[in-house]
Amino acid sequence: MITITAATGQLGRLVIAELLESGVPASEIVAAVRNPQKAADLAERGVQVRHADYDQPETLEPAFAGTGKLLLIPSAIYGQRFPQMKTAVQAAVAAHVPLVAYASFVNAATSTLRLADEHKQAEACIRESGLPFVFLRNGAYTELYCGELGDLAPALESGRMIGSGGNGKISGAARPDLAAAAAAVLTGDGPVNTAYELGGEAFTLVDVAAEFAAQSGKPLVYQDLPVEEYAKTLVGWGVPEPFADLLADTSFAISRGDWHTGSTDLQQLIGRPATPLANVVTAALKAL
Ligand SMILES: NC(=O)c1ccc[n+]([C@@H]2O[C@H](COP(=O)([O-])OP(=O)(O)OC[C@H]3O[C@@H](n4cnc5c(N)ncnc54)[C@H](OP(=O)(O)O)[C@@H]3O)[C@@H](O)[C@H]2O)c1
Repeated sequence: MITITAATGQLGRLVIAELLESGVPASEIVAAVRNPQKAADLAERGVQVRHADYDQPETLEPAFAGTGKLLLIPSAIYGQRFPQMKTAVQAAVAAHVPLVAYASFVNAATSTLRLADEHKQAEACIRESGLPFVFLRNGAYTELYCGELGDLAPALESGRMIGSGGNGKISGAARPDLAAAAAAVLTGDGPVNTAYELGGEAFTLVDVAAEFAAQSGKPLVYQDLPVEEYAKTLVGWGVPEPFADLLADTSFAISRGDWHTGSTDLQQLIGRPATPLANVVTAALKAL
């Protein structure tokens, strides 16, 4: 049995779709979710839906019962992720889960990003638990740079994309590629107690703007701002200050190389080249 937590999220849903496509019977997949009603479509397809809310520890051990491989996908709630993962790892130990795969963060061991801290703590907690593990250190979702944050339409209108990443390279990865990599680990018999650095084709923020300009036929350039100015601009757009600081730190970290990996683990796991930036840009423009 393969159990996926946060399975109603975008990544979780894609992992389940990959597992089904690769021939895993629906009855051997558990969608462990905070809100089972949101997973009604998965239940209709025969996937087992179980209640698993990180903030309700008593739901976790029963949700993990009988699991052969567990994929822990953290919530997106900054500051809560580590305590939530700690609780989930304790439940996995209690449920005698034989393998935990954790959806971590690229370069987690060395990253200087504030966002990486909770992933470092979660990885350490899993190592200390004694559970056999695989760390899937996911690169930045390419979709995040292609309008998912709601910034594409205004950028195309103003002709300007902004950030603090300088000429730093991002080994972005499309979510479906990361989901395919997770499914490959969950269905394979590869090494345990190991970490995969999962990044696709590297691009800069200048490349992103240039690709949108080329495909849309509209002038668009990337303008690099000092990190404090970028944070202030985000605040001016209505982003709450602590979140604006975090986003600016995340962008600035591109210039420090934190979002780049030379690893080919992603391509090897999925058995094909990673989705190019151009394809994600095409999809983003279609969705506008
Ligand atoms: N690599 C990257 O660039 C990147 C970027 C952003 C985030 N991430 C991380 O990757 C994770 C998955 O990404 P995603 O795109 O699938 O995010 P997402 O679509 O926002 O999904 C987050 C999931 O977390 C679930 N969740 C929230 N609180 C929970 C709780 N208390 N107990 C159990 N589940 C809970 C949500 O449940 P509901 O469906 O009930 O809301 C949702 O299913 C994120 O949560 C975040 O930790 C990575």
